[in-house]
Amino acid sequence: MIENLMDTYKRYPISFSKGEGSWLYDSDGGKYLDFAAGIAVNVLGHGHPEIKKVMHEAIDNVWHVSNLYQIPEQQKLAKKLCDISFADKVFFCNSGAEAVEGAIKTSRKYHFEKGDKDRTEIITFKNAFHGRTLATLAAGANPKHTEGFGPLPSGFVNIELSQKQLEEKISNKTAAVLIEPIQGEGGIRITPKEDLQMIRDLTSKHGVLMILDQVQCGLGRTGDFFSHEWAGVEPDIITLAKGLGAGFPIGAILASTDASSGMVHGSHGSTFGGNPLACSVALKVLEIIDEEKILSNVKSLSEFLLAGINDIIENHKDKITSVRGRGFMLGIKCEVENTLIAETALNNGLLLVPAADNIIRLLPPLNTEKKDIEEFFNLLNITLENLPR
Ligand SMILES: Cc1ncc(COP(=O)(O)O)c(C=O)c1O
Repeated sequence: MIENLMDTYKRYPISFSKGEGSWLYDSDGGKYLDFAAGIAVNVLGHGHPEIKKVMHEAIDNVWHVSNLYQIPEQQKLAKKLCDISFADKVFFCNSGAEAVEGAIKTSRKYHFEKGDKDRTEIITFKNAFHGRTLATLAAGANPKHTEGFGPLPSGFVNIELSQKQLEEKISNKTAAVLIEPIQGEGGIRITPKEDLQMIRDLTSKHGVLMILDQVQCGLGRTGDFFSHEWAGVEPDIITLAKGLGAGFPIGAILASTDASSGMVHGSHGSTFGGNPLACSVALKVLEIIDEEKILSNVKSLSEFLLAGINDIIENHKDKITSVRGRGFMLGIKCEVENTLIAETALNNGLLLVPAADNIIRLLPPLNTEKKDIEEFFNLLNITLENLPR
């Protein structure tokens, strides 16, 4: 029944009527282990009672007012995000693409206000994904996504990740370098710590801002709250979305006072961005991540998850060959078509997400329990044994 929907998604013929923890249920009683988590969104699984409660409370009080007024929940959320990061200022929006788009604007305006009006270029990297607005498409520079949508905004330079390439392209026209610490859509490719440090060194040397797109890899997914902590670098700007609202739409740009200095009255805006309901939910998500020791759950169980996958690979080398990633953001390299594995997994009650480079992504809720991971091993084995030839 999709006649009236634009045909932008190839959808599986299934819908869900209930969710609890890491499990989803269809109306025929079918049960699915959700290792897709809405593509890294449901960080606390489905139906978390505290999230339900905070949503009900916000609905009983006030769920939307515009940014013409003070929104205490928004201020509290901004303070919390700044307390746990390098950032001093936050702008709230509704999605990942909006956060990245806003980060690009923030970096260009920074240089403009400092009188460096030619510094407009944004350097990005091969296989990146930053969203589907025109500017974020230009940033990703993936012909599969951009074809037919031109003309795209100018001022984006997409390069291979190497010191040599970056040294060649960085100049007094560069506003920012934009990178995902771990590429998600691009196939779970980790940016090595040394490369993040190299980018920080070069950007600092050239007075260029460093933007880390953590829409997919942030919010505890790698076992650290932010996905640069393991690299020991401090960026100027971070983008967040997906897991921040655990399923309720909210995005955020986090920046230092200096990097955000161009974002003055009237320079940017969003009707829905940072409304009381979204911010109450996100505040609760952060509280639960802390109280339920979610980061240590990811850190300790990811070892168990990795070890189990490596065992399964040993027995199915003709179908899957390796696993990469960090924390609960893992990619299994497939020998057979990744979409065939995803489809067979679905038919066997396991939800997985394909990514580029013939990868199957595992993005379980961050509060997934050990027994769910054991069930994952079982379902992955069944899937691989039942792949159609
Ligand atoms: C790294 C990254 N940036 C930006 C986006 C865009 O987010 P949204 O789909 O919420 O616009 C995504 C979405 O997958 C992403 O993975």
